[in-house]
Amino acid sequence: TQSFSILASAKAVPKKVVTNQDLTALMPTSDDWITQRTGIRQRHVATTETTTSLAAAVAKKLLRQSQVAATAIDLIVVATMSPDYLTPATATQVQAAIGADNAVAFDINAACAGFVYGMQVVNCHLQPGQTAMLIGSETLSRLVDWHDRRTAVLFGDGAGGLLITRPAESSGQWLGSHYATFGAAGHYLTAGQLPNQHPWATATDSTQWPFKMNGRRVYDFATKQVPISIQAALTDAQLTTTDIKGFILHQANARIIKQVGDQLQLTTDQLPMNIADYGNTAAASEPILLAEQLARGTYQPGDKLVFTGFGGGLSVGTAIVTL
Ligand code: ACO
Repeated sequence: TQSFSILASAKAVPKKVVTNQDLTALMPTSDDWITQRTGIRQRHVATTETTTSLAAAVAKKLLRQSQVAATAIDLIVVATMSPDYLTPATATQVQAAIGADNAVAFDINAACAGFVYGMQVVNCHLQPGQTAMLIGSETLSRLVDWHDRRTAVLFGDGAGGLLITRPAESSGQWLGSHYATFGAAGHYLTAGQLPNQHPWATATDSTQWPFKMNGRRVYDFATKQVPISIQAALTDAQLTTTDIKGFILHQANARIIKQVGDQLQLTTDQLPMNIADYGNTAAASEPILLAEQLARGTYQPGDKLVFTGFGGGLSVGTAIVTL
């Protein structure tokens, strides 16, 4: 095992809250349908905030909490599928916002699995003695067709992140992982398609900007592949489910999470959920959930945690660490 020490954990969400009831003004839906099928009651929507400003707010909280100087940060990775710009990458603007002049910064995109993929990227990059910031930040509200009830009710905006170090001596450890990608099923969940716009483009623009999703296929994918990924990571770490204090699962749908919990025979204490308050925030969902749980004192140093992300790609990933 390698040391992987979580020094701080923070979240930032937009001020505006949109309830299920609010959505009934925009599309034919109901609070009952959304609550029963997804577990979502409200979501935050960025009106003045951006993916960059939410990520920078998280970065500032991480520095304040840990008392680490910005110049001591070696690496900033932002996981996002909804960046403000294709270039510069969000992480570079976080670097500028906090004055982390010595950090290398770049974004990664693995959709809703982005944060857990980012954990692996940080784990691979960190040299002994180095410190990294990993932030998931999304404004999915700009990828949503606000009149399409099949997708609009699901998503929310927000950001969360971790400050991670690799000291010679620490209780925090990277225990095991598993990652898998199913690109042939990628068309079941798409968003943000860009048109050919050069003078020689011949095809008429039929690109699809907002989310397009086969919800049933994504549901089946998640309930099948998430337990497989968790089992594979547990095997990699030579652990069983009872060794794990908390399963920090991507918050896509309460029914998916409960079904995964049933399959793995997890207790409700092992399976924290906050989807009711935020909806699906893609790469931001696991760090928002962890920040809330750590602020409540749910987990202590030495506790083992499983992080699992799944979604667009289609992709799935699991990382297991000790706090
Ligand atoms: N309000 C009211 N009715 C609705 C709504 C709504 N918001 N949305 C769909 N319906 C209707 C449908 O039109 C359908 O009506 P019909 O039978 O008359 O055609 C009926 O409700 C049932 O629709 P289904 O799609 O079969 O409902 P299902 O039980 O599959 O739930 C859901 C849909 C919630 C989307 C589910 O499939 C799901 O959660 N899938 C996973 C999606 C997901 O997690 N995606 C994100 C992955 S993460 C990422 O990478 C971004």
